[in-house]
Amino acid sequence: MAIRHYLQFSDFTAEDYAWLFERAAIIKRKFKAYEKYQPLTDRTLAMIFEKASTRTRVSFEAGMYQMGGSVVHLTTGDSQLGRSEPIEDSARVISRMVDLVMIRTFGQDKIERFASHSRVPVINGLTNEFHPCQILADLFTYMEHRCLDGQGRPSLDRLRGKVVAWVGDGNNMANTWLQAADLLGFTVHVSTPSGYEVDQGVAGVRSTESYRVFQDPREACVGADLVTTDVWTSMGYEAENEARRKAFADWCVTPDLMSLAKPDALFMHCLPAHRGEEVDADVIDGPQSVVWDEAENRMHVQKALMEYLLLGKV
Ligand code: CP
Ligand code: NVA
Repeated sequence: MAIRHYLQFSDFTAEDYAWLFERAAIIKRKFKAYEKYQPLTDRTLAMIFEKASTRTRVSFEAGMYQMGGSVVHLTTGDSQLGRSEPIEDSARVISRMVDLVMIRTFGQDKIERFASHSRVPVINGLTNEFHPCQILADLFTYMEHRCLDGQGRPSLDRLRGKVVAWVGDGNNMANTWLQAADLLGFTVHVSTPSGYEVDQGVAGVRSTESYRVFQDPREACVGADLVTTDVWTSMGYEAENEARRKAFADWCVTPDLMSLAKPDALFMHCLPAHRGEEVDADVIDGPQSVVWDEAENRMHVQKALMEYLLLGKV
């Protein structure tokens, strides 16, 4: 069987996603019922972190143990990656000893080089360009709350046509939202400060049909089904902190912005959040926010993803 990697959202088809969301719901139900499910006994996941993480580490690590497997945790500082061993050599070596690799790093080119020299599937745990595991969790969370079919299953059919308002940086999260909209048939309203726009080429989307650009974040939120944002300064861009603080001052999700969205609109944030910067405490801690479900669902969708990459359609 050819190896499949998950390096960006567009690596999978709509059919793959339908399968993953169905499996995530089943795997989550088992977890909630304390039902043991260990299809990955004797399998090992290597996690390589070149940037900090709380959710990604805990969700992959706990998820792998729950499925019967084990985990090796590497960082730049405590491995030869930090002492200039070529990424290609690291891939050749690590992938001879484990069954699956998750990487959080800087440029997308780095994870692509690793994957092209790996004997086992590679998962993107965040790069400067993309964060596909997060959007997987975000879509699952939205469907759990708003798009269940008659049998209580997450429905991609019901997701079609929805409007997601992206308020903030044209970053890895924004790019991945655009890929998801392009593939799954919903629309993203993007509002970024000038100089921080999304770049269609970097986002890797085929057309502009699935997103609309708004200068005013208020206009982007009008009629939205979901309002979402992210930190003003992503990891790796800390030197731009002060300039970004000034540029992003009006890109804060306030109760006023939420009031322009549909009355049943949800609020999401991949976390970590900065209350008083990109989001008001009243919004993230308010009734429309589903950020804790969103964080928890990282684990359930990634368990489904690891199962799919290692075992296929079980
Ligand atoms: N949302 C997310 O990826 O969180 P961490 O940076 O804590 O992994
Ligand atoms: N855009 C943020 C997401 C953190 C989970 C970053 O890359 O730092």
